[in-house]
Amino acid sequence: MADLLKGKRGIIFGALNEQSIAWKVAQLCAAEGANIVLTNAPVAARVGQTDELGKQLGAPVIYADVTKMEDLEKLVTESMAHLGGTLDFVLHSVGMSLNVRKKNPYTDLNYEYMHQTFDISAMSFHRLMQTLWKHDAMSEWGSILGLTYIAAQRTFPDYSEMAESKALLESFARSFGYHFGKAKKVRVNTISQSPTKTTAGSGVGGFDAFFNYADKMSPLGNANADDCANYCVSLFSDYTRMVTMQNLFHDGGFSFTGIATDLMESFSDQALGK
Ligand SMILES: NC(=O)c1ccc[n+]([C@@H]2O[C@H](COP(=O)([O-])OP(=O)(O)OC[C@H]3O[C@@H](n4cnc5c(N)ncnc54)[C@H](O)[C@@H]3O)[C@@H](O)[C@H]2O)c1
Repeated sequence: MADLLKGKRGIIFGALNEQSIAWKVAQLCAAEGANIVLTNAPVAARVGQTDELGKQLGAPVIYADVTKMEDLEKLVTESMAHLGGTLDFVLHSVGMSLNVRKKNPYTDLNYEYMHQTFDISAMSFHRLMQTLWKHDAMSEWGSILGLTYIAAQRTFPDYSEMAESKALLESFARSFGYHFGKAKKVRVNTISQSPTKTTAGSGVGGFDAFFNYADKMSPLGNANADDCANYCVSLFSDYTRMVTMQNLFHDGGFSFTGIATDLMESFSDQALGK
């Protein structure tokens, strides 16, 4: 390890279990010398293994529901008290769609659920940044990251209302990134990650086909959770201080590939029996 984050302080949201992207990010941040606080939804204390990761890394776990302002206030103030100062990085790795969970078709969505989905998956990013802002909780040249998916730009039918959640999330990163940059030299970005085998990822209908298609289309193949952790750490490090307000594709080239040769072959007249 290169001690890339030596002496830095951060909060990591969303490490539910070993598959979680945030789990890998937390482990790598600690290995690179950072002091971190872990957080997750209160329900994760029952259904997840966040406490176990906390023990493994010697990091406190402060549970907070991202839809509750008072939970985020408590998380930010207690994290600063525990870590002994302002924060150098924050990872928002949170997403959940009630309509996807209930398998409601896109043409027949429940709007109460949609509100909650946007609240958990997108508005929470603004709520978090506003809390950090009000408590003057970010150090100068700090880095805030959210995780997103290319369905914000292109239609993937089974991704449903999460597509709109991600479009909103990416927009919050740009807009808040402006204010945070001007006032505190803090950068805000989103990483648009390949399909990854996690609890949230596998909840999307037809995930295995999503995953295999993207893997075939991407010249480098899909980026996995460990690759994503490497990228997150680089964005928390001092080597990326001038990168802000960006949506950064981390997908093995998927986003800029028109068609992959192995897929083309399956569409030849011969393959289609024409
Ligand atoms: N897995 C993929 O294919 C993929 C691809 C691109 C982007 N992402 C994004 O990566 C992020 C992390 O997801 P993951 O794939 O690691 O899955 P995951 O299920 O491991 O993580 C999602 C986390 O969100 C947390 N969460 C849900 N509701 C919450 C609430 N009200 N308050 C606080 N936390 C809450 C869950 O407890 C969980 O820890 C999400 O934003 C997801 O959309 C995932």
